Amino acid sequence: MIAFYPGSFDPFTLGHEDIVRRALKFCNKLIIGVSHDNFKNSLLTCEQREALIKLIFSKNKRIEVLVYEGLTVESVKKFNVDVILKGVRNIDDFTIESQMAQLNSMMDNDMETIFLDSSDKFRSISSSMVKQIYDLNGDISPFVPSPVLNFLRDLK
Ligand code: PNS
Repeated sequence: MIAFYPGSFDPFTLGHEDIVRRALKFCNKLIIGVSHDNFKNSLLTCEQREALIKLIFSKNKRIEVLVYEGLTVESVKKFNVDVILKGVRNIDDFTIESQMAQLNSMMDNDMETIFLDSSDKFRSISSSMVKQIYDLNGDISPFVPSPVLNFLRDLK
């Protein structure tokens, strides 16, 4: 099974990494898609996010990382994937993710989305909170993988 894991990943967190590693238990291949069109204020460029995620999973041949433009369902068709993968941290996430899953399913021929419930130790980590802590010079080491931490430290 090929899964497509779309997101903003700005920045990629330990919660995202956990979702990827757990999904590999049941996916043969996982494509991590950095969305170019998420309408949020960005900390990192898409290319920086892509490079960092590639670095995190550099030893894993079953993972591909790319930047995509436009609708997620268009990339899903282009890359011939079987399922969309999303992580869900709480009820607010579930509300928005289930809406997106249904719209994607209506746009693309009943495309299914698999949700993985966040592991408890990562449930509170969100990219937007990490960005805020980083902007205010807080310690983000408990929240992001080391390549992201090193890159963001060098940016300051
Ligand atoms: O990590 P995020 O910000 O929750 O990811 C949201 C993302 C990028 C998956 C979503 O905004 C998306 O799919 N954007 C691409 C444009 C699109 O397909 N929009 C319609 C979604 S129903």
